[in-house]
Order: sequence, then C-alpha cells, then structure tokens
Amino acid sequence: MSGREGSLRGRVAFVTGAARAQGRAHAVRLAREGADIIALDLCASASETVTYTPATPEDLSETVRLVEAEGRKILARAGDIRDDPTVRQLVADGVEQFGRLDIVVANAGVLGWGRVWELSDEQWDTVIGVNLTGTWRTLRAAIPAMIEAGNGGSLIVVSSSAGLKATPGNGHYSASKFGLTALTNTLAIELGEYGIRVNSIHPYSIDTPMIEPEAMMEIFAKHPRFVHSFPPMPMQYKGFMAAEEVSDVVAWLAGDGAGTVTGMQIPVDKGALKY
Ligand SMILES: NC(=O)c1ccc[n+]([C@@H]2O[C@H](COP(=O)([O-])OP(=O)(O)OC[C@H]3O[C@@H](n4cnc5c(N)ncnc54)[C@H](O)[C@@H]3O)[C@@H](O)[C@H]2O)c1
Repeated sequence: MSGREGSLRGRVAFVTGAARAQGRAHAVRLAREGADIIALDLCASASETVTYTPATPEDLSETVRLVEAEGRKILARAGDIRDDPTVRQLVADGVEQFGRLDIVVANAGVLGWGRVWELSDEQWDTVIGVNLTGTWRTLRAAIPAMIEAGNGGSLIVVSSSAGLKATPGNGHYSASKFGLTALTNTLAIELGEYGIRVNSIHPYSIDTPMIEPEAMMEIFAKHPRFVHSFPPMPMQYKGFMAAEEVSDVVAWLAGDGAGTVTGMQIPVDKGALKY
C-alpha cells in the first residue's frame, strides 16, 4: 500500500504528536519517502485527568535522530496544539526554513475513560480541547501556507474507530473523533479548488502508550456489556497492530498514488469495524 521510497522527495510534512508512537512512526516514514519534517509534541502531560505516561523531550529528540538518520531535515519543537500562537509560529518557522508545506498529519491526541454522565469538566475539556479544538487549530494554522504555496497537498486527520462507531466508556473521546470526521469532510469540499486533499484515518488497537490494558480491563470489569464494542480484528485475532502499519496508510495518503482520494474515512483496523 505504501508509496515508492523517495516518492515524497522535495515535500514538507507537518506531524503533530511526533515525539513517540504513531506520530514518530509517521514522521520517520514520511522522511524515508523523502519529505522534510516539521514536528510538534507537548512532551508533557496534557492534564491530570490523563492517566498514562506522557511523552518527554527525550522522546522528541529520538524522533529528531531517527528522521535525520533517514537523511532528511527536521524542525522539532515542544508545544501544545491547543495554543494557537505556538502552532502558528512553528508553521511559519517551518515554511521559512523549508520553503513550503505539502502534508499535515494531525495526529496528536489524548484518551480518557468514564461513562458520559460521570465525566468531570476537566476530563471533557481535555479530550475535546486537544483532539478536536487542537486539531482544528493545527489545520487552521497550516492551510493558508499550503494554499499560498499553490502546490496542492494532503491533510491526514487522525481520528479513530471511535470516530465512526460508539465506544462506551469514552464518549468524550468518541465525540472528539466524530468531530474530526466532520471537519475532514467539510475541508475536503472547501479545499478542493486548491488541490488539497483531506482524509481521515481511523485506527483501531495500535500498540502505543495510550492503550492501557489495565484501564480497559477496569471498565470492562465494571461494565461487562461494553466489551462487545471492542471486537477482535478478523485479520489479527490477538494483540495490537504496530504504529508502522498505520504509517503505510499515511504514506499512501500523503503521496500522489492517492491523488483521487479526498473526503474519505479510511479505517486502519484489520476488519474490526465490520463486526
Ligand atoms: N493507539 C490506538 O489504538 C489508537 C487508536 C485510534 C486512534 N488513535 C489516535 O492516534 C493518535 C496517536 O496516538 P498514539 O496511539 O500514538 O498515542 P501516544 O499517546 O503515544 O501519542 C500521542 C502523542 O500526542 C502528543 N500530544 C498529546 N496532547 C498534545 C497536545 N495538546 N499538543 C501536542 N502534542 C500532544 C503526546 O505527547 C504523544 O506524543 C491519537 O490521535 C489517538 O487518539 C490511537
């Protein structure tokens, strides 16, 4: 499914949440295809309500090392996608340094757990604030530079299986990811005349620090019926997928091989959504 090595030579990609896991894998993969990288990551906890281990500045440094090992350049910065001046400044600095912007992988996100009526304001505000508002700020900052460059491009919005179906136990996360589906499809129409394609990907069960088996087991122990909304994958009955498997789809969407594809929701789920 991936593009040819070097298929993105001369292009520039902005990846959020790039310090580790899927974001890092996407940055490295796009660099291997020839793109220079603009990278942003919070490198800290988004809120006390996020229970899993946060990414660190050292994680982002490792992404820098890995991208450079692919022979590409990277401008990496610690910062919050919720903070408009931070995102705008990074895009401006990246475009000044690399001369253009072609690809955005809006990947930064957070996950939390709790039934809808039991969520605190901070749980809600954190997940909606990062996943939906922060992603909108990312896209809002990047799009004018892409239009101005006049080269078209590809926006890849990282939603989730939870952006296509119910996920009891994290309704706020699901609401944020459904919101991204709406943004994607609206933008696909609004940006068509500029040759900019906009698609969302919908991963399921990727092996990253975000997925805490204990937190899931706790929810399923309390609410056994919820387990039916988290089916096994027909093509991989046990375990999780690797981040790099998602990067194959990102690289394809970023490149010319997906030139006819816009306004689409692409599940990366080995068939799980068919249950
Ligand atoms: N792991 C899965 O099974 C899965 C499934 C579907 C969708 N996703 C989505 O994939 C994306 C990547 O998640 P992951 O699985 O690699 O988890 P992760 O927690 O390892 O990576 C998320 C990255 O985003 C960064 N981040 C969080 N809030 C930020 C903010 N406000 N500003 C800047 N950076 C911020 C984190 O520091 C982290 O490095 C997320 O959007 C997530 O919702 C994950």
